[in-house]
Amino acid sequence: MIILSLFHGGLRHGLLVTKGLRCCAAALAVSLCTVPLAWASPESLLAKMTLSQKIGQLQQSHLEAVTAEDIPKEVKEAIRQGRVGSYLNINTVAVANELQRLAVEEGPHGVPLLVARDVIHGYKTIFPIPLGQAATWNPDAVEQGARIAAIEASADGIRWTFAPMLDISRDARWGRIAESFGEDPYLTSVMGVASVMGYQGKDLSQGDSTHIAATAKHFLGYGAAEAGRDYNTTYIPEPLLHNQYLPPFSAAVAAGSASIMTAFNDLNGVPASISSYLMDTILRQELAYKGVIVSDWDSVVETVVHGGAEDNKDAAYKAAKAGLDMEMVSTSYADHLAALIQEGKISELEIDQKVLRILRLKAQLGLFEQPYTDIARQAEKKHPKFHQTAKEVAAQSLVLLKNDVPSHKKAAKLGKVLPLKPGQKVALIGPMVDAAHDQMGTWAMDGEKQDSITVLQAFEQAKVKGSVQYRYVPGLDFSRDKSTKGFKKAIKAAKWADVIVYVGGEEAALSGEAHSRANIRLPGAQEALLAALKQTGTPLVVVLMAGRQIELHDVLESFDSLVMAWHPGTMGGPAIVDVLTGVSEPVGRLPVTWPKMGGQLPMYYNHKNTGRPPQSRPFIMMDDYPLEAHQHSLGHAATHMDAGYLPQYPFGFGLSYSEVHYSDLAMAKRVLARDEAIRVSAVVKNTGLRPVTEVVQFYVQDIAGSVTRPVKELKQFQRVVLAPGEAKTVTFELSHKDLMFFNAKTQHVFEPGAFRAWIAPHAAAGKPLTFTVR
Ligand code: BGC
Repeated sequence: MIILSLFHGGLRHGLLVTKGLRCCAAALAVSLCTVPLAWASPESLLAKMTLSQKIGQLQQSHLEAVTAEDIPKEVKEAIRQGRVGSYLNINTVAVANELQRLAVEEGPHGVPLLVARDVIHGYKTIFPIPLGQAATWNPDAVEQGARIAAIEASADGIRWTFAPMLDISRDARWGRIAESFGEDPYLTSVMGVASVMGYQGKDLSQGDSTHIAATAKHFLGYGAAEAGRDYNTTYIPEPLLHNQYLPPFSAAVAAGSASIMTAFNDLNGVPASISSYLMDTILRQELAYKGVIVSDWDSVVETVVHGGAEDNKDAAYKAAKAGLDMEMVSTSYADHLAALIQEGKISELEIDQKVLRILRLKAQLGLFEQPYTDIARQAEKKHPKFHQTAKEVAAQSLVLLKNDVPSHKKAAKLGKVLPLKPGQKVALIGPMVDAAHDQMGTWAMDGEKQDSITVLQAFEQAKVKGSVQYRYVPGLDFSRDKSTKGFKKAIKAAKWADVIVYVGGEEAALSGEAHSRANIRLPGAQEALLAALKQTGTPLVVVLMAGRQIELHDVLESFDSLVMAWHPGTMGGPAIVDVLTGVSEPVGRLPVTWPKMGGQLPMYYNHKNTGRPPQSRPFIMMDDYPLEAHQHSLGHAATHMDAGYLPQYPFGFGLSYSEVHYSDLAMAKRVLARDEAIRVSAVVKNTGLRPVTEVVQFYVQDIAGSVTRPVKELKQFQRVVLAPGEAKTVTFELSHKDLMFFNAKTQHVFEPGAFRAWIAPHAAAGKPLTFTVR
């Protein structure tokens, strides 16, 4: 029976294979005899494998081949000999199928390969960068994005992605903040789980070949790279590591993330890829993680460069002992594990456990039954419905940060600048109005810029529909352009217009891996262009596309409206135009604190209070200091003399086209026993004239603890839809378990005492109430 069903599966695959594969259809009967015999369970398969075949399973190699004919001879030979368990960077079905054919039909025991690729925020249909997706505060949006990415990627035979990245990111200088869900452990956890569910479905082993295995990465603390410089050293003391950096990974483990990737960084003196504390103590023991642990690219051998291992053999030894299953790209396992076993330093049993985890993942993905991908599935990519979803998600990721009534008299009559009014003349200016490539952002390797709809194209569509008229003058050719030669024309268009829509920010290449910046201001001559545009007196709407928060301190005054669009992906243009024209309401909220100046970084809302919190002490800004002032006389507070202590915009912040009023923060009972539910409610009312989706945020502060606790922490949030005039009571419920934290001994504890609670539109708003849990 099993053989029969495999035969049907195999025959189907035989009929579907690409040209280069046809020959295998003839050989199918042979392979069907061998595959089922070898394949009964990962354990029985393991029992048949030689040591070198086992070690082969632990190797992930890199291959960039476009057609089956491009696959080099050495690669074919390696597969035939069972020296590779996985390939990354495959992105065509022809190559994926040919690799699988070599493995299943010509390799030992017919073990299929794990075909992997970084599918980070979409595959062909590019969604907003993860930081933008986090700004939706909508886990359903993230899940849908990952689901669509999985469908498109699996159509090319990719069954394993290296996402979601769950690194807590408190520093906008770090280029990879773009790939993160921001600074908050709770929001990152919620979005991380949604992402894992989107890629994997409820259960990866349900046999749905449109699902792909997820990878929660990078374990652990990579986002704390000193000075925001990528790959840099990290020092994260306990309990910070457990309280802030670990929770998203714990959530991803609980959600069934098939794999976890180690990190490049040295954490507290031990490179993460050889850290037995991280892999064994935390992942395997504390979290009981059963999935595959994969290294980052070359990160095992780089531990030698870190000074954490003597040579590659020592690195292989330490990584294997620490718990690493699969090595990405570098070959220290392949080169040294056999010798290490022979020398008695590592037992074959330890290797068996690693191999089993990899074979189990292959089995879960159904690869033994169905290693090939139906080429008819090519048609599934770039489906119009996917583009529609990408547009909706992009629209939800936009954060309206400023929307004033312009000072200019004539314009002021129309009220706030956004939404644009029908018939207004718009000057479309800026280097990213028509940035088909750059709007896709970092890690959009498979996105095709010809599929992007830019702001310019979307304005054209809107114009055709008769809702706006515009003139397009870029002013600058690209975000780093320093030439002012285009300014004159831009100023002329600005003078003609009723409103300027400036679209600028950062090109895709200015954020992402290895793309950190020390200066996070607008690059090129953008600040100068914006100043010149302001001089025209025409109201100025600024739309920023960027992979991080941008320092706007010196230019923000001159903006009448500001929309943060991140890098919004394929459908960025229509999403932006819909929000600017009011077809869609702005609903996004910041997943990060937005600093006034780069020098404030790292900056995050859930910091400690210090002994001298600035909000309770008078302090003097630098320019107000009297000459020869006595240092002691002017207040001492945790602040900067030039930037103050407040951010430009707080975590959770975002405006809408309506107004929402919060009131009646209440708890039925303020003193609770440990097992009683902690219920806090507030009334939110839409007092404006337009519908609103309000992200109601619930923060708690543990006022005193055995280790000091953050000034507040996001515990939950709800997206509440309110019609104009509508009010709703929003209730949050916690148990004392939600108030637990890791103490100085890394014990997960609940400490009774007093707490403060806020229900608020962002992290800097609202007055708390106090309650006690005994
Ligand atoms: C990155 C990973 C990525 C891997 C594979 C590394 O450089 O740090 O996040 O998944 O490459 O491309």
